[in-house]
Amino acid sequence: MCGIVGYVGKRNAVSVLLDGLQKLEYRGYDSSGIAVIEQAQIVVEKSEGKLANLRDKIKDMTLESGIGIGHTRWATHGRPSDANAHPHTSQNGKFAVVHNGIVENYLALKEKYLAGDHFTSETDTEVVAHLLEKFYNGNFAETVIKVLDVLEGAYSLVMICADEPDKMIACRKDSPMVLGVGEGESFIASDVSALLAYTRSCMYIEEGELCILTQDGITIKNHALQLVEKEIHTITWDAEAAEKGGFEHFMLKEIFEQPEAFKRTLSGRLHGNQVHFDEFSLTAEEINQWQKIYIVACGTAYHAGLVGKQVIEKLARIPVEVEIASEFRYRDPMMDEHTLVIVISQSGETADTVAALREAKMHHCKVLAITNVVGSAIAREADYVIYIWAGPEISVASTKAYTTMLIAEYLLGVYLAQQKEMANLDERAAILEGLQQLPEVSAKLLTESYLAEVQRAAERYGMAENIFFIGRGMDWAIALEGSLKLKEISYIHAEAYAAGELKHGTLALVTEKTPVIAICVQKSTYDKTASNVKEVKARDAKVLAIINEGDTQTAKFVDQTMEIPKINNFVIPVLAVIPLQLISYYIAKIRGCEIDQPRNLAKSVTVE
Ligand code: M6R
Repeated sequence: MCGIVGYVGKRNAVSVLLDGLQKLEYRGYDSSGIAVIEQAQIVVEKSEGKLANLRDKIKDMTLESGIGIGHTRWATHGRPSDANAHPHTSQNGKFAVVHNGIVENYLALKEKYLAGDHFTSETDTEVVAHLLEKFYNGNFAETVIKVLDVLEGAYSLVMICADEPDKMIACRKDSPMVLGVGEGESFIASDVSALLAYTRSCMYIEEGELCILTQDGITIKNHALQLVEKEIHTITWDAEAAEKGGFEHFMLKEIFEQPEAFKRTLSGRLHGNQVHFDEFSLTAEEINQWQKIYIVACGTAYHAGLVGKQVIEKLARIPVEVEIASEFRYRDPMMDEHTLVIVISQSGETADTVAALREAKMHHCKVLAITNVVGSAIAREADYVIYIWAGPEISVASTKAYTTMLIAEYLLGVYLAQQKEMANLDERAAILEGLQQLPEVSAKLLTESYLAEVQRAAERYGMAENIFFIGRGMDWAIALEGSLKLKEISYIHAEAYAAGELKHGTLALVTEKTPVIAICVQKSTYDKTASNVKEVKARDAKVLAIINEGDTQTAKFVDQTMEIPKINNFVIPVLAVIPLQLISYYIAKIRGCEIDQPRNLAKSVTVE
């Protein structure tokens, strides 16, 4: 999400930090800041917007220091602003902190330890700086351990202390960071791209380890402050590969980031069998006044809405219509104060979706936004917001934003049912259990052998001129997303059909030259989909089927199968779309396409 860099050594820290932040700006870019220690005082400079604004702000200052930390932000708690930009400091100004991730229990910590403190930002991070001051016992490292003991959530933290100006301390949990080893200098950054100009020797930090960086070297300690031995690795990537974390394209990197993104989307929102949103709360009375819900979105976000319809209707029993934003506003939809309009948008800036939101507000509807970007137009104008916290998505083809949108919709469906006190307690509990398993199960899915299987399929079908995707119910919804992904980056003509509709026309197009990708994971529709698959097989189509682990039937009548690990069947679309993302990626690669920036397309579509 955000970019972190830290330096201690003989150079001027300011230029090392700005240089490192420039390399990390792709990770987050709504504000940036640095903190250095000058004459035993912490000096902080920060600025909203691109890093260029910070450079401008400090260009005439004479900041000279051999130690400092820097941050480029992708907002989660609190809109982008100077005040919310990192580093954050303690009240006495003796500690400064940069943070990537989310401190889930920051409100509880404020109440328990910091009542009466004056906070200057809306962030969860500022709590960490205040706690360092509160717990300080004259030993920086021991104090950090005490603070870590009360934090919940995911974080990478780098901290400096004016009273111990020769060192910085860093740690991580569920959030990446890497150490750079130099001669008479030490570095830390959220990824290696920030280090490569200075060193290729790096050390990886394990969770729970405390890293103490000085100009004489880096010491790693465990929770009991005992020394931990570390191996030094040599980085062989060039700068471009480093930015992509060693992946060839941002799209593949973002597919692989999904397990971490899932953790963030769920973070702080599950309390036993209850869903809670920090951002808003709704009473049964408020929910019951909505007789209908519209979900309005474009492209991939619209496809996420198709899953959302099924989730909300099943769990909360409120009728849902899903609309393409560019159609919605021009067709005079029937809506009023008894309608909830849910807008979904990764960027939060898509012109058609913003226009639909405004149309809904004009009709006195409440609007709930599901978005990735804090402070975006959609987030600002909606009445309620659920952030998906997918982290910056750079590839034009959306992957982790789609799957985290689905997770947000499951959380919302359960939440609406829970607030309405509906009787489906067991069903909701099973869904929440499934959601909690997603990070682990999705990480297991993304193995070398699975990728090899997908590549085999890509080689087999990648030269086709037309590919059909079929499925029923939620399988159809993800088939639509699979076909969009394929046409968007590989330029193959691809269409998705409700499997039962084929025989009403499209089956005429199916021949041995039209491979079919069949999604067969929804158990309730399996038998019917299987019959439709046999219909296309009878027309000589080659079929790749996405199936449940343990399904021994389908392989008998298709050409290739790819398994989805066992998980609650209702949340399985989040996993079942991953092979579709991967097959599009590998087909596009085989065809030599420009994967991250497909022709004619843009990441954020701000024209109607
Ligand atoms: O930022 P948004 O989610 O509002 O964007 C909507 C679509 O433009 C977007 O999902 C598009 O379809 C993707 N490129 C698909 O991969």
